[in-house]
Amino acid sequence: MISNRELFLNYLGQTSENPYLLEIEKAEGIYLYSPDGKKHIDLISGVSVSSLGHNFKPVIDAVIKQAEKHLHLMVYGEFIQDPQVKLAEYLSSMLPHPLKSVYLVNSGSEAIEGALKLAKRYTGKTKMFSFNNAYHGATHGALSLCGNEDFKSSFRPLLPEVYSLELNNFEQLNLIDKHTACVVIESVQGEAGVKLPDSKYMLALREACSKNSCLLIMDEIQTGFGRTGKMFGFQNFEIIPDIVCFAKAFGGGMPIGAFAASPEIMNSFKTNPVLGHITTFGGHPVSAAASLAAISYINESGIVDLVANKENLFRKHLSHPKISEIRGTGLLLAVEIGSFENVLKLVKQGLQDGFVTDWFIFHDTAFRIAPPLNMTENEIILACDMIKNALNKI
Ligand SMILES: Cc1ncc(COP(=O)(O)O)c(C=O)c1O
Repeated sequence: MISNRELFLNYLGQTSENPYLLEIEKAEGIYLYSPDGKKHIDLISGVSVSSLGHNFKPVIDAVIKQAEKHLHLMVYGEFIQDPQVKLAEYLSSMLPHPLKSVYLVNSGSEAIEGALKLAKRYTGKTKMFSFNNAYHGATHGALSLCGNEDFKSSFRPLLPEVYSLELNNFEQLNLIDKHTACVVIESVQGEAGVKLPDSKYMLALREACSKNSCLLIMDEIQTGFGRTGKMFGFQNFEIIPDIVCFAKAFGGGMPIGAFAASPEIMNSFKTNPVLGHITTFGGHPVSAAASLAAISYINESGIVDLVANKENLFRKHLSHPKISEIRGTGLLLAVEIGSFENVLKLVKQGLQDGFVTDWFIFHDTAFRIAPPLNMTENEIILACDMIKNALNKI
């Protein structure tokens, strides 16, 4: 019989020459289970998605309940669908004034696309800024913002008038001018290797955007819903963005994204021409129901308040001669181990020993720690011991 491994390699479009090839049959809590029963601690949550772990009952129940009522009914924005309106109301209640209008989409990339189009439509301008080594998604607009030339040059022409800024460089803020439609920034740069904006820099960036009537777009796709120890990463700074993008943990494991803005900004999609952004499956009812179950649990259970302690626990127990730095905030950490060779060896050793980690798209000398937020203290200590053992072996 042909194995799933062969079917994977023969029939699924591949993204690299060396995929993980880890076969998973089921998942529960922080554990992923291979068909032979071997369990692996999930230290990356499917890249910051499974913030409540796997098979989280309230999310599964919401999925089943909604699936029994109805699946897709109509393209986004026409019918009144209970899971969508409840989710939009709940998310807007979590956001500060004036971010009260929520547009539901399918993914992080689509949230970024929608936000860019909204910024162009609202401001009537086209020039955009993003940051060195920023990652905002894989579609053409999102890729245009990518702050890494190697990653995007083969796909040119991309959007014109998109320029890169260096994070925390105050002088370069002078480049933001009256022709600028938007500046797009991650509240923590994930794929750059977990780089943190300076608080004063964020204030200055907010001011530069306001002064030039350009929109500050915050990418909370990897950082949103508690990962940094605050509900949203931008709450680590005293600023309110003009548009915020969500995906990943927003769906509790189901595919959904969103962007939020003030009603005034969002309303510019309604006219000139009508249907400024449309999406067939955006805010799919089953995903919307899962999302509400996930974000209301994250918001009401108090788990976000425990994230800083869990970060400290990782920092305390991950002391090893091969680790030179642990960078990040909350449960989004980059652990520096000197070289890509070491990271590759550790990832492979982890697959043997029973834990899953990886590296960052634009930073390959550190491995990623972004586990479910509800990982327990004992589980964290166990995972740190396993990582240290693996580091001893490589
Ligand atoms: C910060 C950030 N923005 C956008 C995206 C794109 O999201 P998606 O893969 O859902 O399109 C990602 C995905 O990794 C991300 O980390």
